[in-house]
Amino acid sequence: MICPNIAIIVAIAQNFAIGKNNDLLFHLPNDLKRFKKITSGHAVIMGKKTLFSLPNGPLPNRRNIVITDVAGETFEGCETVYSISEAVEAVRNEEEAFVIGGGMIYLQFYPIAGKLYLTMAHRNFEADTFFPEINFEEWTVVSREDLFDEKNNFNYSNIDLVRG
Ligand SMILES: NC(=O)c1ccc[n+]([C@@H]2O[C@H](COP(=O)([O-])OP(=O)(O)OC[C@H]3O[C@@H](n4cnc5c(N)ncnc54)[C@H](OP(=O)(O)O)[C@@H]3O)[C@@H](O)[C@H]2O)c1
Repeated sequence: MICPNIAIIVAIAQNFAIGKNNDLLFHLPNDLKRFKKITSGHAVIMGKKTLFSLPNGPLPNRRNIVITDVAGETFEGCETVYSISEAVEAVRNEEEAFVIGGGMIYLQFYPIAGKLYLTMAHRNFEADTFFPEINFEEWTVVSREDLFDEKNNFNYSNIDLVRG
């Protein structure tokens, strides 16, 4: 079952790499601004490891929904759910909710998310965490912007897609 109101937002490398040592692979200042602009005022859904990787804890001005398998565990400033279906149910009335990682969570939401907001670096990275391989034939590009980051010295694209 596809959930049209659930969007995945992810920064990904050409080889679908997304993380290493519980950290991101690259930091693009413009991309952090984009992430904040897109997700502010909305619900964000994340795995426990991603919550612990956030430098300042739960994200301000957003409903932070954290998924864990540990029964009864809760996190300050967050709503806690204990399964993917519980997360889906928690955002049923949200116009748009964002899955913000990490690898385990993306893997389980990729088959059901209706939208993808990609920041794709046009180079490979060494990583220990990957996004599932995207079949671009299953997605329609809504917008695309090709950019260059001087600090990191690589090209990247912001690509927004909807399923279908
Ligand atoms: N590039 C990007 O845009 C991006 C975005 C976010 C994160 N990341 C990176 O991704 C990496 C972290 O990803 P990860 O895969 O290690 O961890 P994760 O997906 O953030 O969290 C995994 C945890 O979520 C819980 N969980 C997962 N599926 C569950 C389910 N079906 N039911 C209940 N609980 C469930 C489990 O918590 P318990 O152990 O408590 O049961 C599991 O240990 C880091 O390197 C991070 O920097 C990258």
